[in-house]
Amino acid sequence: MPTTTPALTTLDVTIRAMHDGDLWGMGWSGTPGHVKQLADQLTRARAGVADYLVACLPSGQVIGKGGVDYEPIPGAGALWQFAVLEPLRSCGIGSALIRECERRIQGRGLRRAEIDVEEDNPRARLLYERLGYVAYGRKVSSWDDELPDGTVTRIETTCVLLRKDLTC
Ligand SMILES: CC(C)(COP(=O)(O)OP(=O)(O)OC[C@H]1O[C@@H](n2cnc3c(N)ncnc32)[C@H](O)[C@@H]1OP(=O)(O)O)[C@@H](O)C(=O)NCCC(=O)NCCS
Repeated sequence: MPTTTPALTTLDVTIRAMHDGDLWGMGWSGTPGHVKQLADQLTRARAGVADYLVACLPSGQVIGKGGVDYEPIPGAGALWQFAVLEPLRSCGIGSALIRECERRIQGRGLRRAEIDVEEDNPRARLLYERLGYVAYGRKVSSWDDELPDGTVTRIETTCVLLRKDLTC
């Protein structure tokens, strides 16, 4: 019979901006193509057009990530690229990252957050709806992605568009 030690059930998680030193340890968070483009997102964050955050354990290990892109939607922050290390999902880390992103959006004087979620990701959509996001449309997205075997493939998917008024 497994036992649970109370002291081991609390996660001490810090949320901060991602930096270059985090990149080597991000292999868990997506395809090789995704991990490669994280460096470009850090360049964009330094230029002020995005925020890219990580959730870390006291050891410094990154266990979650996600950010805000300020360029695609005038007047709003577009939340994107959220992922939490699989064994640590459903502990509130994704919600904490999203709330910090919302604070960053408000800190820039913007009043709306938006997020896209693929139609075949109902669990993520339910999480966003629980956090106050409301669906208002759909769009087809496509991009090239590098797979673990080095091949590049075209991904095409339909996303649900959700938004949240941050003034409430
Ligand atoms: C989507 C994702 C980032 C959410 O991260 P997360 O850390 O699991 O999110 P949270 O823990 O805040 O909330 C998710 C679940 O935990 C529950 N939860 C929230 N806080 C909790 C807590 N303190 N204790 C226990 N459960 C909690 C939520 O109710 C939700 O329930 P569900 O498991 O039925 O969905 C994560 O699941 C993930 O990496 N998924 C794969 C990549 C992906 O789909 N990214 C989204 C692209 S749009």
